[in-house]
Amino acid sequence: MADDRDLIKSRIDLVDLVGREVELKKSGKNWKGRCPFHDDSNPSFYVSSEMGHYQCFSCGEKGDVFTWVMKTQNVDFVDALKILADQLGIKLKRRGGVEKSKRETYQRAMDAALAYFRSQLELSAPAKSYCERRGLDADTLAAWEIGYAPDVGDALARHLKSEGFSLQDCREVFLVERSGQEFYDKFRGRLIFPIRDERDRLVAFGGRTLGDGHPKYINSSKTPIYDKGRVLYGLHKAREALKQSKTIVLVEGYTDTIACHRAGLKTAIANLGTALTSDQARLLARWCEKVVVLYDSDEAGQKAAERSADILKDTGVEVKIAVMNEGDDPDTLLNSGGAKAVQAVVDNGIKPLEHKVKRLEQLYGLDDPKYWSAVAAALASADPRDREEIIMPIAQRDPTIRDPERSASALREKVRKIKIADPKAAKATAQSAPESDQITGVERAVFLGFMDEEMRKAGWSACCDTEIFVTAAAARLAEAIASAWPNEAPSGQPTDWIEELQPGELREQLLALSVRQSTPLQESELATAIERLQAGKTRRKVAEMRQDSMTSDDDLMAIHGMLKQGKTE
Ligand code: UTP
Ligand code: MN
Repeated sequence: MADDRDLIKSRIDLVDLVGREVELKKSGKNWKGRCPFHDDSNPSFYVSSEMGHYQCFSCGEKGDVFTWVMKTQNVDFVDALKILADQLGIKLKRRGGVEKSKRETYQRAMDAALAYFRSQLELSAPAKSYCERRGLDADTLAAWEIGYAPDVGDALARHLKSEGFSLQDCREVFLVERSGQEFYDKFRGRLIFPIRDERDRLVAFGGRTLGDGHPKYINSSKTPIYDKGRVLYGLHKAREALKQSKTIVLVEGYTDTIACHRAGLKTAIANLGTALTSDQARLLARWCEKVVVLYDSDEAGQKAAERSADILKDTGVEVKIAVMNEGDDPDTLLNSGGAKAVQAVVDNGIKPLEHKVKRLEQLYGLDDPKYWSAVAAALASADPRDREEIIMPIAQRDPTIRDPERSASALREKVRKIKIADPKAAKATAQSAPESDQITGVERAVFLGFMDEEMRKAGWSACCDTEIFVTAAAARLAEAIASAWPNEAPSGQPTDWIEELQPGELREQLLALSVRQSTPLQESELATAIERLQAGKTRRKVAEMRQDSMTSDDDLMAIHGMLKQGKTE
């Protein structure tokens, strides 16, 4: 891998690479242009072809060929390496995955199938009239490459065979199935939605019946080129819009995604299943700062929205849930209310906790004691700040206790009891830690410091004191950094040493943090962050000692009060 990196670095001319996107003018030994990473009125972006480095003297953005590809194409290091290797025609040393030539064969078979499906749509009157009924006009059909699989049995199989494909290969990518010596088509009499990954590669298909047949959709299963849990439908199209807007609209299905795009929400993508997987969440988080989950308005859809929101929370993005009227999905809403109606729903997204409380109210009603216990349980597992924000509005609607202050106290009491019954949650309270696994702002500063050449030493030594971190996610990352570089901080560009950080998942997380950073970190900011984290550690130690000798609920309350004071110092 190290040789690959050096080879690519020596062969790619950074000026040439950057020059494709930024107008560069020669300036002494270097090249100069307007910085693509900030709104640059005076050219302050320098590229050195000799050194293979770029740097903006205004916003501080800097790096080499790899960081350039990572930042401008929003990919991780390994993908950047692949992209550049592809450009040079270099074969990378293989590290898992599908062999390149085999992948090409699969890819060609998929592309041939799509071309066939596309041509068949033109020939099918029922399919065309179905599209028309659903408002899928010619532009939409072209943009989403929608096709049609004729209801024949082996039409695609015969076509692929005539084009010289091995049907055994086609079977492996879920295009045909075998029965004895015969091959028949997987998709028959269905409207075809091609699924591309974020790098534009055609990896799967979804096929919808034209009527009410069962199942409504048939989707490619897991194949050598498709892992459903790692792909997001529409991301390849949303990429462009995500350069401007950092908010993703997450929907359930094919038609939802298309409807959102038609409504002008060009950052809509779908997870194509009930709830998001953590792999999808991580992929998605690389592209945005905020996600608005917009699932079907039925109970199942709303529950799935909360689950997806939960999974997303761990990646550190801001999450909102948007709710449509009963019975609507983005597609029906677009048809009945137009683009404005869909946009309004998304704009009115609410926090997941508020959503849950509303849903519980619909489920039970305010008069049912079950509502109040369920609300208390939801509040107990929520982030303390979110909890305090919502507790008064809930208390104001209490039909039995007329005084909202008293109702709120009663709720807090319930929450406290739930947390005491659950020792893990109680410990989290005693530590005054956010219960979410989301890396906090001060923790993030430490990692950003570590990524910065100038501040790396300070960031690195803070990481080595792993106990200062509050969230599990940050502690894990710090632990990995400390064990990869136990004696001294690594030196040079992140691309020179990042591969030493294990496992790859944490590597990605660290890179994602720095990619998402919008303003450069100041040295004073880092110092304050480290100070605050160290003070927190001391405070927790004291609290732990007191908790060990704790006997009554009153003691817990006292400690709680003390910690609260400490927090607002
Ligand atoms: P929906 O049933 O809401 O379908 O399922 P839809 O996308 O709104 O389709 P239309 O508008 O009725 O034609 C949402 C998503 O769940 C997956 C598909 O990804 C679908 O888009 N799904 C649903 C399946 O994979 N198989 C099914 O049988 C049903
Ligand atoms: Mn739907």
